[in-house]
Amino acid sequence: MLIDVTFELNGKTVTITTHPLRRLLDILRDDLRLTGTKEGCGEGECGACAVLLDRHLVNACLIAAASLEGKSVLTIEGYRETERFAVLSKAFARAGSVQCGFCTPGMVMAAEALLRRTPHPTEEQVREGLTGNLCRCTGYNMIVDGIMLAAQEGDGLW
Ligand code: FES
Ligand code: FES
Repeated sequence: MLIDVTFELNGKTVTITTHPLRRLLDILRDDLRLTGTKEGCGEGECGACAVLLDRHLVNACLIAAASLEGKSVLTIEGYRETERFAVLSKAFARAGSVQCGFCTPGMVMAAEALLRRTPHPTEEQVREGLTGNLCRCTGYNMIVDGIMLAAQEGDGLW
């Protein structure tokens, strides 16, 4: 059985016809070709697929299509259009936060969620905000530095 689901995606209303249990991750990557959201573990452990759902950080591999009705989804493609992304991206570049880049879209979405909650985080709060996101390359320190730097440089944006 297929259902129609209407939700907001990166600021635009979309309606899709899909299986109620289809994962948001597959809808984004395979159906809508928004491949900035990555698939790592596929089971909610790595945060590579992190997006914001009604402004809350979620793993898109754990979200079923049926639960999207009336909700608002922000992916890295939509976030890329914001001034806050520009600040984070510059700070990540300066701090060397990106190596292979696979975890980066999820890290950026986690950083956005964190800075919205806590615009002036301590290092400990940043580390806590990244607990759901795995990185195999950086050892995390450079990502934490990037987020701390963004909080400083983007003061007033979050
Ligand atoms: S792919 Fe979704 S949490 Fe790893
Ligand atoms: S930069 Fe490679 S997994 Fe994080």
